[in-house]
Amino acid sequence: MSLKGKVAVITGAGGGLGQATAVRFANDGAKLVLIDLSDQAMERTVSLVKEITQEIHTVVADVTNSNDVQNYVKEAVNTFGSIDVFYNNAGIEGLIKPTTEYEEEEFDKVIAVNTKGVFLGLKYVLQQMKKQKSGSIINTASVAGISTQANLSAYTASKHSVVGLTRTAAVENARLNIRVNAICPGPIDTDMVKHAAEKNNPNNPQEFYDLVKAMVPADRLGKPEEVASLVAYLGGDESGYINGSIIAIDGGMTSTYA
Ligand SMILES: NC(=O)c1ccc[n+]([C@@H]2O[C@H](COP(=O)([O-])OP(=O)(O)OC[C@H]3O[C@@H](n4cnc5c(N)ncnc54)[C@H](O)[C@@H]3O)[C@@H](O)[C@H]2O)c1
Repeated sequence: MSLKGKVAVITGAGGGLGQATAVRFANDGAKLVLIDLSDQAMERTVSLVKEITQEIHTVVADVTNSNDVQNYVKEAVNTFGSIDVFYNNAGIEGLIKPTTEYEEEEFDKVIAVNTKGVFLGLKYVLQQMKKQKSGSIINTASVAGISTQANLSAYTASKHSVVGLTRTAAVENARLNIRVNAICPGPIDTDMVKHAAEKNNPNNPQEFYDLVKAMVPADRLGKPEEVASLVAYLGGDESGYINGSIIAIDGGMTSTYA
């Protein structure tokens, strides 16, 4: 599999999935534009990627802010000339609470990052890809984009909307040689699950991990590198006929009703 010479933009590049994907893309020969809200988180990714390639450009940006998004698109094009692969991935988990208890402000925050952030990324990256008449976009939804469990109203609503945005953008742009797909990870061993465990069960986070693990037929959490492999495949030309697809990567989680 090769991304040789392709320009790849990754949002949430300082987080678990963003970092593993940046490393994978670099190993596959891509030039990288890394985006994150947190300079500090991004630095960790940069230090790993620099061992593989020097063709990296970083932009600190808030994906909920239209000016920031337009700026990272401009910086990517000014630096490397195009955007061939866009991993539209930044996201937050929000609260774990029943709908009746869920604070409005927190609901708005989750929708702002997970839905509006993905929309803004699509809007401005697609404008560039339409000029190029080429590109592959991978949006990070979740198993919560396909089904749900109790106490995840905002996250579930936001990830279902990522599925809707993906299908719409795919249909709109298919004739222009632009593909838009969504991946739906189950629980993957990153800071997001760590934070959810700490919030849900501060005294015994391990209990949360065990509960989550028990929901997965594979009886384990996924590895960020496993998700990165799927993203690299979708980003490259070998997946050329996959478009508008919503692809679970979840150890069998969405196949069971147990
Ligand atoms: N880890 C999982 O189990 C899992 C499962 C399903 C889906 N996902 C999704 O995968 C994506 C990546 O998650 P992760 O596990 O790597 O999480 P993570 O918390 O490790 O990383 C998320 C990154 O996004 C960045 N970010 C947050 N808000 C931002 C904003 N407004 N602008 C720019 N950057 C921002 C954070 O700084 C962080 O570096 C998210 O969309 C998440 O919902 C994760």
